[in-house]
Amino acid sequence: MDAMADDWDQGGVVRLICAGWEDAPAGDFVQLRLLAGLHRLVLTGQEPSLARFYPNLGGTADPAGAWPPVREAMKRHVAELADDLRIAPQTNEPGRAVALLVGLFHSVRQSGLAKIRLLEPGASAGLNLLLDHYRISGRQPQPWWYGPAESPVVLSDAVLGAVTTAPFTIVERRGCDLAPIDATTAEGRLRLISFVWPFHVERHLRLAAALQVAAEHPVSIDEAGASGWLAAQLSVAPEPDVLTVVWHSVTRVYWTAEERTKVAGLLAAAGRRMPLAYITMEQNASTYSGNPELDVTLRQPGAPAGATILASAAGHGATVRLATVPDHGVPVRIIEP
Ligand SMILES: C[S@@+](CC[C@H](N)C(=O)[O-])C[C@H]1O[C@@H](n2cnc3c(N)ncnc32)[C@H](O)[C@@H]1O
Repeated sequence: MDAMADDWDQGGVVRLICAGWEDAPAGDFVQLRLLAGLHRLVLTGQEPSLARFYPNLGGTADPAGAWPPVREAMKRHVAELADDLRIAPQTNEPGRAVALLVGLFHSVRQSGLAKIRLLEPGASAGLNLLLDHYRISGRQPQPWWYGPAESPVVLSDAVLGAVTTAPFTIVERRGCDLAPIDATTAEGRLRLISFVWPFHVERHLRLAAALQVAAEHPVSIDEAGASGWLAAQLSVAPEPDVLTVVWHSVTRVYWTAEERTKVAGLLAAAGRRMPLAYITMEQNASTYSGNPELDVTLRQPGAPAGATILASAAGHGATVRLATVPDHGVPVRIIEP
């Protein structure tokens, strides 16, 4: 990326590809869009000589030598790479299913309801909606596991702290996203893979496994913004023995203030009409900094809402540190309405 920046300064091929993006705000991450476009060229075999720099493709070459061949590859694909810049960075991290599972165990225990309607705004390709097809396990307070033993997605020892499991069944699942990705298509899969850093080999393996599950169990992701979609979904109450769970991860930071306010209002209103658990793995809502926190708010008609920060989570979610672990670094709050 440093070499790309120098090339931009010198008016090289990067400048040519990024023509029209000169005034793009930093948050557009033009450099990541370009790197993902390049990654797609390598993933699709169009630039095989670069594969040696991509650890996810088995490459072991020193990245320090990458720029000269990358520059030549970029020169061969100017129009295609320029066109690809319109694809905004988007990842869907199945490791965050661990946080969702911990939140679900808590919600099922607290509500006494074991049938789940799972709704996820900002779901991307919906890989976390498939958590009941993943094998997730831990060792504390004694060995526990969840999900089918034969699942290709294996998330072991992903929780620090003692977990109390609770059986549940997902009776309905659905998501929305401003730009949903269809994980059952080659194009959708390529897009997801291209935005994962090539040197995060473990994440690539996890994503490949989750994509395998998604091919067998397609989920519906509607193209919609969070609040409009939730308003429609929550206008219908399920059977009284079903717990509606609204879950989202690493998406609120991208929402407008209006979207955030509307979603909060919708959830408060829906919780007066149906049993509802709101599970989020997001950065702190006031500071928008630090590792995501796993936050659960339970609402039931006629009862006060109870919000708990259950844990903190690594950004990609595969390690969830329960608030009961002494050095969790996250305050535990019980908020009354
Ligand atoms: C970093 S990704 C996280 C995806 C997924 N939740 C996960 O944790 O793997 C953020 C997602 O939020 C979506 N998004 C951003 N603003 C949104 C909004 N207002 N309503 C719905 N989705 C939104 C983006 O399109 C993107 O797919």
